[in-house]
Amino acid sequence: MSYLKFKKAWDRIPASQVTSESTYSSRRHFLQTLGSTGLGLSMLSGCAEGVDGAPADSAGPAPSNGPYGQVPPFWTQQWEDLFPAARNPRFQTDRGVTAETLATGYNNFHEFTTTKQRVKDLVKEFDTDPWKVEIRGEVEKKGTYDLDDLIRMGQLEERLYHLRCVEAWSANIPWTGYPLSQFIEKLNLGSDVKYVRFLTLLRPAQMPGQRGLSAYNWPYYEALSIEEAMNELTLLTFGIYGHPLNKQSGAPIRIVVPWKYGFKSIKSIVLIEFTKHRPRTFWSDASKEYGFWANAHPRFDHPRWSQASEIFLNTKERLPTQRYNGYQDFVGHLYPEDDRRYFY
Ligand code: MTE
Repeated sequence: MSYLKFKKAWDRIPASQVTSESTYSSRRHFLQTLGSTGLGLSMLSGCAEGVDGAPADSAGPAPSNGPYGQVPPFWTQQWEDLFPAARNPRFQTDRGVTAETLATGYNNFHEFTTTKQRVKDLVKEFDTDPWKVEIRGEVEKKGTYDLDDLIRMGQLEERLYHLRCVEAWSANIPWTGYPLSQFIEKLNLGSDVKYVRFLTLLRPAQMPGQRGLSAYNWPYYEALSIEEAMNELTLLTFGIYGHPLNKQSGAPIRIVVPWKYGFKSIKSIVLIEFTKHRPRTFWSDASKEYGFWANAHPRFDHPRWSQASEIFLNTKERLPTQRYNGYQDFVGHLYPEDDRRYFY
């Protein structure tokens, strides 16, 4: 374990020095031309076409900072050698990539507001550096980890995942991270660990939702079983659309658990704790309408709406919900067949 160490010269990079979103696809095209990613041509062009329709015909010098400019400049500079990561072709989605303007302009991040379109504006004052993550609980290597060390502890890759919110909207998003299992394997867990708990930052001064939405039990907390945390799909995530996470997307570190409803994919994590007993979770404490497992399933409806279909953000069309959000082959073995308790 180690403590935070920062390169002061990078502390604040003017937005003007950070390349615009349109270079995301062009930079990938450049890498493809060089043959440096080792990925197939169809995958790269499929990705490039989906991103805001930007032309993929010239090389960009630096990672993009997204259409809304809410990528923390500190991390963009600190991780310039890491982004964009190569796409892993095992993780594909139907219907291409959701435009970044949609995926980072329509967010659930209740610490700021419940109005999804406003999150991107309200995150401006949110400081994400310095940032550290505490590892606690039934584990040998407890302590406070430097985020820069943490990102370099696994093999970064880009994965295209289908995100399905419990509210029945969905998107196809390219995340950058590495399997959480790669980190957990280095920690020497106690033999009786059964769950992993995650906590988001508590900072009401910069998070207006933590001041205004006083009925909620802040900070946001989530948990997975250890088998779920070790599943190869569970991604410890540092980036989106080929650059470090936008603030509205959960900068600088979140998890993405694609077979579950989106509320399990907790953002802006400051604590990871290993426990013997099942931890409480933010939404199931807030309402009986939400459970611990929250695996997506078309037949088990939310008490107030159907889960049989979802609205795909790209086209606004209604698509049928897929069992485990389409990831049955990866995770079906973890749960008893069609037991309702696992699907809300
Ligand atoms: N994490 C925190 N800390 N706070 C939140 O409000 N919302 C969750 C999840 N993670 C949330 C969170 C919900 S309900 C969803 S659907 C996803 O984030 C949305 O992720 P996105 O905004 O990147 O699409």
